[in-house]
Amino acid sequence: MSAQVTITKKFEFSASHRYWREDWSEEKNNAEFGLCVSPYGHGHNYDLHVTVSGRIHPQTGMIINLSRLKELVNEVVNQFDHKFLNIDTPWFKETIPTTENIALVLFELIDEKLKSLPDIYLKRIRLYEKADLYADVWKD
Ligand code: NI
Repeated sequence: MSAQVTITKKFEFSASHRYWREDWSEEKNNAEFGLCVSPYGHGHNYDLHVTVSGRIHPQTGMIINLSRLKELVNEVVNQFDHKFLNIDTPWFKETIPTTENIALVLFELIDEKLKSLPDIYLKRIRLYEKADLYADVWKD
């Protein structure tokens, strides 16, 4: 088996969210989600690590042109930055914007963007909500 190479670029965005289910009582929401039920939401500074894989181009020595990667990923990240995720984005009307769910949406959107680049694929994303908490999404 040949060696695999990945390269990872870090992105940052700030967003707020609220954990709440309309179909649950206030008591159940409080019990499950604690402080995250606050009606006006609360914010996080998210760190997003985007890992791509592919062949090292013999002339450039790179898997991917990093400015092109930055441009494409920022087209996605800009849709999350400084947004109240529950209200300002279309993805979390029915889905709770947990770290896991945000990471899953980001993966799908970034994966779609990167399809325009030949010979590389999105290997994994890692989304940090804070230094000691992150979610990983990857495809086998
Ligand atoms: Ni939170």
